[in-house]
Amino acid sequence: MDDIEKELEQVQNEEELAVFHKNYLSKTGKLTMMLAGLKDMIAEQRAEAGKRLNELKRAIEVKFFQKQAALRAKAVNEKLKNDPLIDITVPAIDQPRGSLHPITLVTRRIVDICRSMGFLVVDGNEVVTEFENFDAVNIPSDHPARDMQDTFWLTNGKVLKTQTSAMQHEILKKYGPVVSAIFPGRCYRNEATDASHEFAFFQCEGMMVGKDISIANLIYVLKTLLSGVYGKEINVRLRPGFFPFVEPGFEYDASCPFCGGKGCPVCKHSGWIELGGCGMIHGNVLQMAGVDPSQYQGFAFGFGLTRLAMMQYAINDVRLLNSGNLEFLRGIKR
Ligand code: PHE
Repeated sequence: MDDIEKELEQVQNEEELAVFHKNYLSKTGKLTMMLAGLKDMIAEQRAEAGKRLNELKRAIEVKFFQKQAALRAKAVNEKLKNDPLIDITVPAIDQPRGSLHPITLVTRRIVDICRSMGFLVVDGNEVVTEFENFDAVNIPSDHPARDMQDTFWLTNGKVLKTQTSAMQHEILKKYGPVVSAIFPGRCYRNEATDASHEFAFFQCEGMMVGKDISIANLIYVLKTLLSGVYGKEINVRLRPGFFPFVEPGFEYDASCPFCGGKGCPVCKHSGWIELGGCGMIHGNVLQMAGVDPSQYQGFAFGFGLTRLAMMQYAINDVRLLNSGNLEFLRGIKR
């Protein structure tokens, strides 16, 4: 065994290795022949000798393959070093590479900021029950708010969610009564499409429920989140607004991050950008999810991720985002 190993160690190149293989491991090699010779031994000795010989052959084979790999690596390295036609310092051919979708980029940024504030990130379902999408957020079947959010109804009675708010009930039930969560997700509405309307789009929603949560907390979270997204101080303005699942409810605006509030085409010269809705979660919503509204309260806010991405990357047609158009995606300045 030692002799064979020594012989293998002394092998210098692939030709010598081939000779070694022929001598010991090939069909006519010594080790193979010895194994074949076992059949002439008496039975009692055969088992023990066979075991040892097989172990020996396997050990030599392992060393053989290690040597082979080492010699090949050495040969490649030498070729790279000495071949004048190969210059490993030349940059690789510039092929187009994959990149992250604008929606993914914006989502990741928001998720990072909210995580740093201790928010849970929940991956919402796209298919939800009619109850979760509507009734559980205080929109019973006779409520006019249902008309504004017509959606795709599946044959099993479920719906493609029209708003991330459809996740509120499940999250409150699962993690409540004390919870801070954000839940970005794809939403659907029965819409005719044009440059600013899509039937599939992305929203992001956040909520915080606990004891003593107030509108001041809501404004602070919105300000911190938006200032993080835009990398500068953003002011937030609330205006009264109606959403069945919040009371009081607001629409909120951010001071225009592009002109700093002076007025520009993006904010239509108003200095403010309408972002979405927010408010204190309605007692009915908490109650339906098993959270006692006399003990706990909280806020919720939502905004269009798609809209945010369009502003951020100056995209003027919402349909491009779902188009799979590579030329458009490559043109995005990230
Ligand atoms: N879900 C509302 C929408 O789609 C936005 C919203 C979320 C409003 C949370 C209030 C609180 O318009």
